Amino acid sequence: MKFNHELVEKNIGLLGILTVIAISFGGLVQIVPLLFQKDTTEPVDGLIPYTALQIEGRDIYVREGCYNCHSQMIRPLRAETERYGHYSVAGESVWDHPFQWGSKRTGPDLARVGGRYSDKWHEVHLLDPRAVVPQSNMPGYPWLAENTLDGELTRNKMQILLNFHKGGYKGNDLYTDEELAGAKAAVEGKTEMQALIAYLQSLGHALK
Ligand code: HEC
Repeated sequence: MKFNHELVEKNIGLLGILTVIAISFGGLVQIVPLLFQKDTTEPVDGLIPYTALQIEGRDIYVREGCYNCHSQMIRPLRAETERYGHYSVAGESVWDHPFQWGSKRTGPDLARVGGRYSDKWHEVHLLDPRAVVPQSNMPGYPWLAENTLDGELTRNKMQILLNFHKGGYKGNDLYTDEELAGAKAAVEGKTEMQALIAYLQSLGHALK
């Protein structure tokens, strides 16, 4: 039997439905295998769960909108890997909800900024970026040094991550009972600045 092109071309509804099916198929072929591939769904070997302080720091990073100017996604292109290091892989951000890949780069990518500068450098930079980089247009965040954490919700935040990834850390849960019990004490009284710096310093060490 000959396929009836005329029927499809003169019937906009049918054409629409068949077009959607054709495009969806192309999309599914790309997307579905990724859901079942270990290297996109499982953490890379070196990935360790965020500490209580780093979790708080990450939330401050999101709250302050750092992602509006900074991506955390090194693309597999020569110009990027020469500047920032190994390109980002999915297994590095399986525990990030929401992920901070971003695409806007007013400032540099931060995916591997951990360990690149000292804590002191970050502190001076976050208080007043122009103190260390005169031509910087990054805003200062002086209030981070004054606001302190009470740790009321830290345990819950860790518990949510744990529940979400049951047995997800080398066959174990992300946190032990002791770590959960000590969550509040681990952050209480620390400044938001300390938390944010702890988070920044944790970035990018997972891939060896
Ligand atoms: C308006 C855009 C903008 C925002 C918002 C912003 N930054 Fe930046 N950031 C920059 C620019 C531009 C630079 C490069 C100049 C410099 O080092 O200050 C930079 C540099 C940095 C660096 C040094 C990176 C490197 O590899 O040298 C870090 C770390 C950093 N920003 C962290 C943050 C954090 C954390 C926040 C949120 C609290 C933030 N930035 C918000 C624009 C921004």
